[in-house]
Amino acid sequence: MQSETPGEISEAQIAVHWKEEQFIDPPARFIAQANMADQGIYERFSEKNFPECFREYADLLSWDRYWHTTLDSSNPPFWKWFVGGKLNVSYNCVDRNLPKYRNKAAIIWVPEPEEEQDVIVTYQELYNKVNEFAIALSEFAGLKKGDRVTFHLPMIPALPISMLAAARLGIIHNQVFGGFSAKACAERMEDSKSHVLVTCDGYYRNGQLLDKKADADATVEEAEKHGIIVKKVLVWRRLPGKYISKSKMVEGRDHFVDELLDKVRGRKVSPLSMDAEDPLFLMYTSGSTGRPKGCQHRTGGYLAYVAGTSKFVLDIHPEDTYWCYADIGWITGHSYIVYGPLSLGATSVMYEGVPMFPDPGRPWRIAERLGVNIFHTAPTTIRMLRKAGPKEAEKYGYHFKSMTTVGEPIEPEVWKWYYEVIGKGEAVITDTYWQTENGGFLCSTLPAILPMKPGSAGPGVPGIYPVIYDEDGKEVKAGLGKAGNICIRNPWPGIMQTIWGSPERFVRQYYSKYCRDEKSKDWRDWPYFAGDGAVQAFDGYFRILGRIDDVIKVAGHRLGTKELENAALTTEGISEAAAIAQNDEMRGHVPIIYASLKPGYSPSKELEQQVISNIAKELGPIAKPHAVYIVQDLPKTRSGKIMRRVLAAIANSEEYGDVTTLANPDIVETIRKMVQEKSQGSNT
Ligand code: WT7
Repeated sequence: MQSETPGEISEAQIAVHWKEEQFIDPPARFIAQANMADQGIYERFSEKNFPECFREYADLLSWDRYWHTTLDSSNPPFWKWFVGGKLNVSYNCVDRNLPKYRNKAAIIWVPEPEEEQDVIVTYQELYNKVNEFAIALSEFAGLKKGDRVTFHLPMIPALPISMLAAARLGIIHNQVFGGFSAKACAERMEDSKSHVLVTCDGYYRNGQLLDKKADADATVEEAEKHGIIVKKVLVWRRLPGKYISKSKMVEGRDHFVDELLDKVRGRKVSPLSMDAEDPLFLMYTSGSTGRPKGCQHRTGGYLAYVAGTSKFVLDIHPEDTYWCYADIGWITGHSYIVYGPLSLGATSVMYEGVPMFPDPGRPWRIAERLGVNIFHTAPTTIRMLRKAGPKEAEKYGYHFKSMTTVGEPIEPEVWKWYYEVIGKGEAVITDTYWQTENGGFLCSTLPAILPMKPGSAGPGVPGIYPVIYDEDGKEVKAGLGKAGNICIRNPWPGIMQTIWGSPERFVRQYYSKYCRDEKSKDWRDWPYFAGDGAVQAFDGYFRILGRIDDVIKVAGHRLGTKELENAALTTEGISEAAAIAQNDEMRGHVPIIYASLKPGYSPSKELEQQVISNIAKELGPIAKPHAVYIVQDLPKTRSGKIMRRVLAAIANSEEYGDVTTLANPDIVETIRKMVQEKSQGSNT
C-alpha cells in the first residue's frame, strides 16, 4: 500500500486504543448440542497438520472420485486443492439429501408483502426444478460445461435454483447483485464473455414492486455497446403464469422460464462429474481500480470449505431452521444461504425484502412463525433495527441458539444489543471476518469452544493462520495495541483461484506486497494480503479496523472509489472527482464526492443532482453519494496526486493535519468552510 506522500503514516500504522471488552462464555445448552465442542480441532488444524487437516472438511462431501493430492502448491499463488478428485456441487447440495430429507424444506421463501404465502421448496421439489432448469440451460440456451451464464436476480427461489442448475452441468454462473444497474450487469457480461442472461419479471422491496425485466432490456442494449450480443434472455416469473413487468417480451430473444420448464417437466439430467479444480462461479467485486474483478471460485475446495465452516462455525444441523438475512447476490449469500447450508441438508430461509417492512418487528415475526433458531446478518441491519425498534424483539417468542455478524466492524455497543435484545441472552454470537475473495470465513470464534468478545472477530478459524505485518513486512506482535495489515500466511481451500482473465492482477493485488521470493515454490513465502487494517490483542483475537485501500464499505456493500469517480466523471462539466468515505452511524460509511469543474461551467444544485443520478445509473442506487461538493480545485500534492485523506478528514470534521507542502494548500481551508456551511445548512 502506497501512502499518499512519502513518509506519511498510513491509517494502519497508527496505534489503536480501545477499551478491552470482557469475554462472554457460550451457554452450556449451546455447547451440549454443538457440532464442534472438541478443543482438539485447533490441534488437528495446526500448522504441523497442514494441509492434510482439510481432509476433515472435504470428507463432509460425496466425491465421485477421491483426490490424490490435498494441496498442490507447485505454482504459487495458483494453489490447487483436492487434486484428482471429482464431484458435483448440485449433487452434493440436492440429490444426496433426497434419501433422508426428500420432503423436508430446503428453502423457505418469505415474500415481502406480509399477506402473501411463503413458498416452501422441499429437497424433492428443488431436485425437480434444478433438473428442469439445467435442461433448459443446456438444450434450450445451448450452454455447456465451462460456458458462463449471467444471472441478474433478486431474492426469489429462482436464484438458488438457477445456481444449482448451472452447477449441475459445470456452467459457470455469474450472479450480479439485483441492486446493481443494467450497466454494471452489462460490464460483467462483457468481462465474463457471457451471452445468456437470466432474470425475472419483478420483485418487492420496501413495499414497491420493482421491474426487473426492464433492467434486462437495458442490460442487453448496454451489452451490445460492449460487443456482447445477448442471444437469450430467460425470464423467471415471480409467480408462474403471472407476469408483473411492464416491459414487452422480445420475440425470439425473451422466454418465460415457467413455460420452458413445462415442456421438460419431470425430466432429469445426471450431474456432471467435475474436477475439483473446475471453476464453479464468478463473483465480481470492487478493488482499487475502476474495473471490478471477477473472483473465480473452484468446485471442490470451495464447497468443502463452506460445508466445513457452516457446520463448525455457524453450527448448522439438518434439524435447524437457519436464516441468513443477506443477499444471494453477494458472496455471503452464495456461501452461507445456498451452498454451505444445503450441502449439510439444512433448511435455509430466504426473505425477499427489507427487514423494516412494514415495521421493525418483521424479522422477529418471521423468526417466530418459522421457528428460526440460527440468525445471520450484517452490522448495518443490526444498527438499523436497533434504532427503529430497540425493544421490538421482546414481543416475539422465537429463540435463537446462535447468531452471526458479517461484513463490517461491529461496535461493542451494537454487539451487546444484538446479544441481549435479539439473542435474549441465550444465543452465541460469531463475528465472522472474510471477503468475497476468500470463499468462507477467515477469523471467528468456534462458538462452543471459545468465548465471545464484543467487537472482535476472534482468532483465525481452524486451518487459517493470520498474521499482522507492518509496511515493511515485519510482524506486528499480538498485544502491542498496534495496528497493521492483516494477512493469511497459508493457502486454504476456499480462496479464489484467480481473477477471471487477469492472473497477473491476482498476483499483484493479493500476493506481491509480502511475497518473500517470487521464485519460491514454498507456500510459506506467499502470504495473502487482505487489504484490511487490524489489531491483535494478547489473547490472540483480531479486531478488524477496515479497508486500507480504495474500497468503501457502505452498509456492508463494497464500492471502489475509482468506480465512483469514473461514474461522477460521466457528468458533463466535471473535470476531476474524488470519492471518499464519510462515517455514518447507520451504514458504517457513505460515499461523498468532491468534484471540480471544467472552464465555462459553474456550480449548481442541478449539477450536484446530475452527479448523483449518473452514479446511480452507472453503478446502481446503493452507490448514491450522500453529498456532492463542487469545489474550485481539489487539494493535490506537488506531483499532482489528489489528497483524498485530507478530503476525508474534512467530511468527517476531523483535523486534516499539515498541508503546507501541498501544491495548493489554500484550497483546503476554502473547502472545509464550504463543507461546514453546507452541512450546517442541511441540519437546520
Ligand atoms: C470486507 C470484505 C465476507 C462477506 C461480506 C463482505 C469487511 C467483512 C468483517 C467483520 C470487520 C469485516 C472487511 C473486508 N469485513 N467482515 N466481521 N468485521 N470487517 O465481503 O464485500 O468482499 O467485503 O468487509 O473490510 O475486507 P466483501
